[in-house]
Amino acid sequence: MNGKSVAIVGASGAVGQDFLAVIAARELRPKSLRLLASPRSAGRRIVFRGESLPVESLGPESFRGIDVALFSAGASVSREHASRAVAAGAVVVDNSSAFRMDPQVPLVVPEVNPQVIREHRGIIANPNCSTILLVLALWPLHRAAGLKSVVVSTYQAASGAGQQAMLELRDTTAAALRGERIHPRILPQTLAFNLFPQVDVFQPDGYTKEEDKMQFETRKILGLPDLPVDATCVRVPVERCHSESVAVQLDRALSVAAARELFADAPGLELCDDPAQKKYPMPLSMAGRDPVAIGRIREGRVFAPGLTFWLSGDQLRKGAALNAVQIAELL
Ligand SMILES: NC(=O)c1ccc[n+]([C@@H]2O[C@H](COP(=O)([O-])OP(=O)(O)OC[C@H]3O[C@@H](n4cnc5c(N)ncnc54)[C@H](OP(=O)(O)O)[C@@H]3O)[C@@H](O)[C@H]2O)c1
Repeated sequence: MNGKSVAIVGASGAVGQDFLAVIAARELRPKSLRLLASPRSAGRRIVFRGESLPVESLGPESFRGIDVALFSAGASVSREHASRAVAAGAVVVDNSSAFRMDPQVPLVVPEVNPQVIREHRGIIANPNCSTILLVLALWPLHRAAGLKSVVVSTYQAASGAGQQAMLELRDTTAAALRGERIHPRILPQTLAFNLFPQVDVFQPDGYTKEEDKMQFETRKILGLPDLPVDATCVRVPVERCHSESVAVQLDRALSVAAARELFADAPGLELCDDPAQKKYPMPLSMAGRDPVAIGRIREGRVFAPGLTFWLSGDQLRKGAALNAVQIAELL
């Protein structure tokens, strides 16, 4: 992105703020940075590298002169504005679900399937956050021993539902401690001192849309169109970082020691697996960090051959902003 004119759509949001953090951390030097959001934020200023940048209201003319547009303002905004950005000459990296399953749009995790970027026609999709964390672990296993099926349960942070949900977790936790009644506005249930097995809306078959995303996006990224992926997605009272309990069935046996070696060498992963020393991945240890930590690796008790493990990673970083910036860097 060095020397390019970059626009961030949704700059005032949870992912938008992490875009700026990632650009700063990677010492990228865009030629210019245009911050776009809804009319609610127009006129607000955001300080980046000591410079106070204005937030502009997103409109039809927002992409004039833009080379790279990083979208994170929801699917309806992407559907309305991404093609405008492409028509204006920009390449779009989109964080929403709008185009992920479009066969003409590459769905990319740079450590897994960077080659598909070449097929883009102006829009590249960033996968669902829980899916990005999962496929980083599945890919080395698949290459070494062949994946047969995956069962995953997620423990998803409040910030996965945006900045307002993160604030709601804080406010309702404080209210609960004061003994007050709690009225969730953003999340579908009270999250303070609770958890609930609903992320996104329910589908006719009883799975949620988030659980569907984990199945269909994982298949597309790994190039395994028939891979069974059974996901249960749960919102937990954590501020940032999603965690996942994963059980995989493999074609060929893979020892725990061999899996540890694979994970230790896999790009984007950090091995954190010494339970005797209380060393295992946790949201608090991973918040604000780039890698996805993996641990509790053990031989499966249901799947044979199979492995069971646990991972935790910052879904605003690798699950969103970092992955999108890596895509833009690859471009
Ligand atoms: N949070 C995550 O962990 C995560 C991970 C992966 C992908 N994503 C995806 O990233 C997107 C943003 O998520 P988020 O968590 O950052 O949400 P968020 O904190 O609620 O932020 C939403 C952003 O979109 C802007 N926006 C909303 N409506 C708009 C409109 N009509 N025109 C222009 N801008 C508009 C908001 O601007 P205002 O501040 O002016 O309202 C804000 O900047 C979503 O598609 C989400 O699915 C999120």
